[in-house]
Amino acid sequence: MTFRATILTLYPEMFPGPLGASLSGKALEAGTWEHDVRNIREHGQGAHRAVDDTPAGGGPGMVLRADVLAAAIDAAAPADDPRPRLMMSPRGRPLTQARVRALSAGEGALIVCGRFEGVDERVIAARGLEEVSIGDYVLSGGELAAMVLLDACVRLLPGVMGHEHSGTEESFEAGLLEYPHYTRPQLFEGEPIPEVLMSGHHGKIAEWRRAQAERITRERRPDLVDDATKTASKQNEE
Ligand code: ADE
Repeated sequence: MTFRATILTLYPEMFPGPLGASLSGKALEAGTWEHDVRNIREHGQGAHRAVDDTPAGGGPGMVLRADVLAAAIDAAAPADDPRPRLMMSPRGRPLTQARVRALSAGEGALIVCGRFEGVDERVIAARGLEEVSIGDYVLSGGELAAMVLLDACVRLLPGVMGHEHSGTEESFEAGLLEYPHYTRPQLFEGEPIPEVLMSGHHGKIAEWRRAQAERITRERRPDLVDDATKTASKQNEE
């Protein structure tokens, strides 16, 4: 099954951008996923194909018109299209690896890239758009955020990553950040590879990696440790 991404943007020339290189680029060439990029301006109004207007109630900037975006969405995806409809926005729920995994297991997504000060609220509700944020900072538009989301999904599609495995041991999959990695040379600027990793004792290595992952997560992302503990104690209650 091909993962289909339909992207609605005012800057179609930005795509595939970095998604045309490396793993995602090869997967695009191989047909593992496809992207259909559409210019919202094709549905703009009048000779100038206007897509935005001044905010009701006043204030700075411009707002993407509901009628224009609705027409662009309707032309890109029929009402019975089963794919989730996302809109990249700093106001959205934060993207997580769990959401990425769920998306990559589906048929794809319709992704609206926001611009201007905002998008008329009525079209968000009327077309069932789910707002998604890639972090607590503001980009100049949703295009880079859409690329981040797609990159995270595409690498999980069957056949895209070299080792089946490399998807399940990495950061966030166990609710923890990843353990540290080492390779040759055995001694680098006086620092040796931790001895346990050279022991060949698989049980001890796994135990050491788990402890390191917990330490790093506690230091850098105490919020993740809290979540993991909550999930574990909930499972114990059941
Ligand atoms: N558009 C602008 N900022 C964004 C963010 N942080 N996440 C998703 N889309 C955005």
